[in-house]
Amino acid sequence: MVMKVLVVGGGGREHAITRALSCNSDVRIFSVMARKNPGIARIAEQVLIERETNVPEIVRFATRNTLDTAVIGPEAPLEAGIVDHLEAAGIPCVGPTRAAARIETDKAYCRQLMERHGIAGCPEYRVCHDPEEARKFIEAYDGDLAIKPIGLTGGKGVRIMGEHVDVAGAIEYVRQIGGDVVLEERLLGAEFTLQAFVDGKRLVPMPLVQDHKRAYEGGVGPNTGGMGSYSLPDHMLPFVSRSDYREALGIMEGTVAAMQSEGVPYRGILYGQFMNTHEGPRVIEFNARFGDPEAMNVLSILESDFSRIVTGITQGDLASSDVRFAPKATVCKYLAPEGYPDAPVAHQPLTISDYGDALLYYANVEERDGTLRTLASRTLAFVGMGETLEEAEAIAEKAASAVSGRIFHRRDIGTRDSLEGWRHSHMKEIT
Ligand code: AMP
Ligand code: GLY
Repeated sequence: MVMKVLVVGGGGREHAITRALSCNSDVRIFSVMARKNPGIARIAEQVLIERETNVPEIVRFATRNTLDTAVIGPEAPLEAGIVDHLEAAGIPCVGPTRAAARIETDKAYCRQLMERHGIAGCPEYRVCHDPEEARKFIEAYDGDLAIKPIGLTGGKGVRIMGEHVDVAGAIEYVRQIGGDVVLEERLLGAEFTLQAFVDGKRLVPMPLVQDHKRAYEGGVGPNTGGMGSYSLPDHMLPFVSRSDYREALGIMEGTVAAMQSEGVPYRGILYGQFMNTHEGPRVIEFNARFGDPEAMNVLSILESDFSRIVTGITQGDLASSDVRFAPKATVCKYLAPEGYPDAPVAHQPLTISDYGDALLYYANVEERDGTLRTLASRTLAFVGMGETLEEAEAIAEKAASAVSGRIFHRRDIGTRDSLEGWRHSHMKEIT
């Protein structure tokens, strides 16, 4: 049966969503994006170039084309209430309502929900609405804190004491952002991502992924949206034990149950970012969507029909038997313009030569008169898949090296060196 699906968003993540949906030839894709993503445009039957938060215009596009369902990629349209409005127009969505998206868009809500329901994995925290109150808390607190603006910041709003700022710098930062902050115990350990499909009640997990947020090799330099990520054939990570994994999954299940019990059921993709501390996994944050790049790792090895999963989520009858991933390793490498993230050189031409067996996902790039050019953010991503991490890494690396232009990527992502080195520095930190 033909299914007409709206995909909202135009980045690498949404290209991966679109590609996965289009594996079923009965799926017809309708895309809304702020700027034309050439990868998505090639698959979609129709494209609306529009701000992804222009909800009325998107609802009109969806109803005019009698679309059956929608998958929302980024967080901004969720916060703008796109799901509430599409569903009011009779179009069920993979993505939470505005109220349920607060799990990502309102960090105070997230922590208070966890506390109300006694959900494990919540760091010590304090919500402040006033710079003076925050100053007193920071000065009195014994240890380092993470300072987070309450609302969305595009992944760039967190300052960590002992890493980015000292006590005075922390107080100054709170003043700068006006006082609405969550102050959290600084967590030490190794970060991992657990994403899950959620139908309101049930949660079906995807393979674990580790993202690399720092811009440069060896894990140094400024934080970015994510320079690349990997996953392993057993869908676990070397530094996450079975019991850590069960704990993390339990935290996510507890959160979904808590939301249901409060009358704000969660439907869509739930993304848990965890710090695996020596006391077990702690929640760094929840996102109300797929991760970017993490979506590219998991969707590239999804064996089951994504459109069936979409239906399971929207109808509230998702079964774990609907979701199967290939037992393969994946390595995703993002190419970014030189100077990214602080001073990216945009509008530079790119040439892609033979990129072998990798999957290519387009992100923030423009194609004009047959020429690809960089923009200000992450440009293209390659995903290598293999029986082993080494194999997947070699495929991704070969592909990333086949692009010429004023761009760079991290050659170390997915290499054993980076894993060992990384684990080593992490061990030093927590012991
Ligand atoms: P976020 O914007 O919440 O994804 O945070 C960005 C990065 O800040 C995370 O990837 C972590 O590395 C770091 N971070 C956030 N919260 C904490 C915390 N409580 N302790 C230590 N690091 C944190
Ligand atoms: N990779 C981190 C994020 O999507 O928020």
